[in-house]
Amino acid sequence: MGRKPIIALDGPAGSGKSTQARALAERLGYRYLDTGAMYRSVALAARRAGVGPEDGAALGALLERISIVLEASPEGPRVLLDGADVSAEIRTPEISRVVSGYASRPEVRMAMVRLQREQGRDGGLVAEGRDIGSVVFPDAEVKFYVEASLEERARRRLRDFGADESDTERLEEVLADIANRDSVDTGREHSPLLVAEDAVRIDTTGLTVDEVLEIMLARVAEVTGCSTES
Ligand code: CDP
Repeated sequence: MGRKPIIALDGPAGSGKSTQARALAERLGYRYLDTGAMYRSVALAARRAGVGPEDGAALGALLERISIVLEASPEGPRVLLDGADVSAEIRTPEISRVVSGYASRPEVRMAMVRLQREQGRDGGLVAEGRDIGSVVFPDAEVKFYVEASLEERARRRLRDFGADESDTERLEEVLADIANRDSVDTGREHSPLLVAEDAVRIDTTGLTVDEVLEIMLARVAEVTGCSTES
């Protein structure tokens, strides 16, 4: 086989996309692209500049000025905004709360999709997001749509934050944030979250990372005709 495939992973917040995409990329020796980190970086840059999601002209100008680079590092993927590492800052509850508003803007989507397609030029990429299989790489050789129940997704997110799962107040907060983002991401006009026609749907509720990884590897092997055994 010539060019290595592109693998698209889409799904809602907390569905396990990031963990699975990273594990899959590592196992296959492919590059990993976290497109959510790009939208989060735009939201961070816009907040710093005092630009709201409704100001299309100011957002357009901001997008011309900023540079967003995703790079691999020994500690995992890093996000550089204008050369500075913002990997932690883009994950704060404040950015999580506002990111979907910025991500729904066509100016923002156009600029990010262009950068994402550049990353896929040579194949050998696992890309995760909301519109990867539908808009960014509609010809991706393998597509997955990863989902899980809302409660399970909220519990996972709470664990990511290192918080106690029995903290019901915090759980309610996270659940509300995720439900709100689900609704904005699904209902938006441009590139909404949807299941691409040819995507394999995986409900990760109650499955371990390894179990999901095995399902994915089997599908990759089926499509590429190569064994993915390590
Ligand atoms: O990790 P989590 O699922 O919380 O979110 P993320 O993947 O970091 O994405 C953050 C937000 O960026 C999403 O809620 C979407 O609003 C937006 N996004 C998008 O619109 N399109 C993508 N391809 C990726 C993310």
